[in-house]
Amino acid sequence: MKIFITRVIPDRGVNLLRHAGHTVDINPEDRVLSHDELILSLQKDAYGAVLCDLDDKIDPAVLDAAGPQCKIFANYAVGYDNLDLPAMAQRGIAATNTPGVLTNAVAEHALGLLLGIAHRIPEADRYTRAGKFTSWGPTLLLGSDVSGRTLGIVGLGRIGSRVAHHAARGFDMPIVYYDVKRSEEFEKSYRAAYRKNVDDVFAEADYISIHVPLLPTTRHLVDASRLALMKKSAYLINTSRGAVIDETALVAALQNGAIRGAALDVYEHEPALTPGLADLENVILTPHIASATEETRQAMSEIAAQNILAVLDGRIPPNVIKG
Ligand code: GLV
Ligand code: GLV
Repeated sequence: MKIFITRVIPDRGVNLLRHAGHTVDINPEDRVLSHDELILSLQKDAYGAVLCDLDDKIDPAVLDAAGPQCKIFANYAVGYDNLDLPAMAQRGIAATNTPGVLTNAVAEHALGLLLGIAHRIPEADRYTRAGKFTSWGPTLLLGSDVSGRTLGIVGLGRIGSRVAHHAARGFDMPIVYYDVKRSEEFEKSYRAAYRKNVDDVFAEADYISIHVPLLPTTRHLVDASRLALMKKSAYLINTSRGAVIDETALVAALQNGAIRGAALDVYEHEPALTPGLADLENVILTPHIASATEETRQAMSEIAAQNILAVLDGRIPPNVIKG
């Protein structure tokens, strides 16, 4: 079979596909293909499978360009808001993602952002590099404590639970959480309290970390009214999807001091930043790299390939997404 990969990825999965006897074509340029370019690339050959990533919008036009012999789009990501699942189901095309292998990396990044914004680490780094460090100071760059402060988790999936685990075990942080599903087992294992109204998490927490998928119901879940519920001393951390936050409202809240700071790995209009965001000192901005460790990106490559191999063998792929 011929397989198309929309972007250069770490090689482990590519090698698996080639060793299984498949021909693999990879977008030769290390950049996102435009919608038109993706369509043209898929029309060039009769691909049986496509390995795509979160920047590829897989809509009916792309699916039609891939043709009826194409059996799977394996997303190189855990999030899959870029896939039109009903259109895929209608054409009998499988959709898969890469859950599990990136849980630790993303949770570590979320905690890194939390510690970094609380202790003002990137801001302090800029200060030091700029030659401003002239003496130790009792009031120099004061941040906020983390240990013992309340962590709000919005979305208690694999990643949200892992962040809560580290925060509770490592920093004695009491946890308040919201999810569509309550987990009493989680509550017993940690000092965690469920809030059936997400507003209560926003009102109570000192740090809020977002771990929901992007869905019609979670778009702008963090809007001006929820930001207004937050303590003035609280911080917002987002490693999920940018559009979960109304970024214009967030910039206003940060400018007005309605909240203390924010640390973001994802953006509403990615890769563009809402005007004003990058001018603020009380933010950390990373370029959607929460899962970007060597080990994790190789593991994602491997499981995306395994999903493809399963479908091409007529098996149910390990990470099939049920639409
Ligand atoms: C990255 O954002 C992912 O969904 O894997
Ligand atoms: C994704 O892996 C999640 O469940 O948080």
